[in-house]
Amino acid sequence: MKVNGKHYRSIWFDSTSNTVKIIDQRWLPHKFPIVELTTRQNFADAIREMWVRGAPLIGATAAYGMAVQMLNDPSDTSIDETWEILHETRPTAINLRWALNHMRELLKPLPEKSRALVAMQRAGEICDEDVEANRQIGLHGLEIIKQIAATKPPGAPVNILTHCNAGWLATVDWGTATSPIYHANEAEIPVHVWVDETRPRNQGAQLTAWEMDSHGISHQLIVDNAGGHLMQNGEVDLVIVGTDRTSANGDVCNKIGTYLKALAARDNDIPFYVALPSPTIDWSVGDGEKEIPIEERHGDEVTKVWGKLDDGTLASVQICPDNTPAGNPAFDVTPRRLITGLITERGIAEASPEGLAKMFPEFVR
Ligand code: MRU
Repeated sequence: MKVNGKHYRSIWFDSTSNTVKIIDQRWLPHKFPIVELTTRQNFADAIREMWVRGAPLIGATAAYGMAVQMLNDPSDTSIDETWEILHETRPTAINLRWALNHMRELLKPLPEKSRALVAMQRAGEICDEDVEANRQIGLHGLEIIKQIAATKPPGAPVNILTHCNAGWLATVDWGTATSPIYHANEAEIPVHVWVDETRPRNQGAQLTAWEMDSHGISHQLIVDNAGGHLMQNGEVDLVIVGTDRTSANGDVCNKIGTYLKALAARDNDIPFYVALPSPTIDWSVGDGEKEIPIEERHGDEVTKVWGKLDDGTLASVQICPDNTPAGNPAFDVTPRRLITGLITERGIAEASPEGLAKMFPEFVR
C-alpha cells in the first residue's frame, strides 16, 4: 500500500543492498523507520519485540529469517536451531510455525550448497502468495460490503468496526480485515471505519488509524469500550476482524477484546466476519477455546502508555500507582457460534469444521 505516494510492502528483499528490509512498526505513526535485518538474531528480536507483528507478517519474516541464516550456515543443525530460535519468539500466531515448517521441509532434502538460493526465492514467494491471498480476501469481502451498501440510502456509508490492526502492516500487503475496506474504497463504495484503539499496545490507534488516514478512508478512533454502544445505536453495519490462529473447527483466536465485540455483535444482530489467509488455520487444533496457547505479555504494556507529548517528544507514561501488578493476556478466542463467516482467499467459509473442510479439502486428515 502507499505511504506518501510511494508503494511499500511491510517486508521486502532489497536487491540493491542485498538485504531484507522491514518497517520498524514500534515507532508508527510518529516515525517511519526502515531497518535491515541481517542476522538470525535480528529476525528473532524483530518478531519478539514487535518491530513486525501480525500473524501473516510474522510468518513471512520467519521465512526470510531462515533464508538469511542459510547464507551464513546452510547445515541441517543450523536449520533446526533456527527453527527453534524463531519459533519461540511468539506463541500464538500460527503462521510462524507454518512458515518455519514449510522452509524446513523444503530445505532439508536439498544439498547444502543450493539451500540459500532456494530459501531466499521461497521466502519471496511466500510474501507474494500472502499478497495475492489478501487481495482475494478483499474481493470476497467486497461482496459483503456491496450487499450491505445496497440496503442503505444512496451515498450512505457502510459502517465497519475493526479491532487491532489486521491491515497491510500485519500482512505483507493489503491486510486481511482491511482488504475488503480498501477494495470498497477503490470501488467508490462509501465506507466509514470505527477503529478500536486496542489496548494495551494500541495497534488500532497507532497502526490502523494511520493506515486509514494514509488511504483517505473515513474513520474514527474509538476506545475499546465504545463498540457495544455504537452497535446498540445502529452505527455499526458490519464487523470485520483478523485472526492470529483459527482452529480446524472454526474458533478464532485474535487480539484481546475481539470476543467482547463478537458478543455485542451477536446481541445486536450485526454480522461478524473474520478475514484470514489459509496459513492462519491450525489444522492440528480442534477446540480453539481449549487448545490455542494465549501469549501473556509484560505488564508494562498495561501500566504504561506510549505516545506523543504536547511538545512533540515521544514518551511512555505510567497510568497507575507505582508497582501495580498487571495481567496482560494478548489474545482471546471467539467461539465459532458467534462468527457469521470466515473470509478466506477461496471464498467465505462457514465457521465450522465442515465449512473449513469444504473450502480446504486437501488439509483435512
Ligand atoms: O500482537 P500483534 O500485534 O502481533 O497482534 C496480532 C494482530 O495483528 C491482530 O491480532 C490481528 O487482528 C490479526 S493478524 C492479521
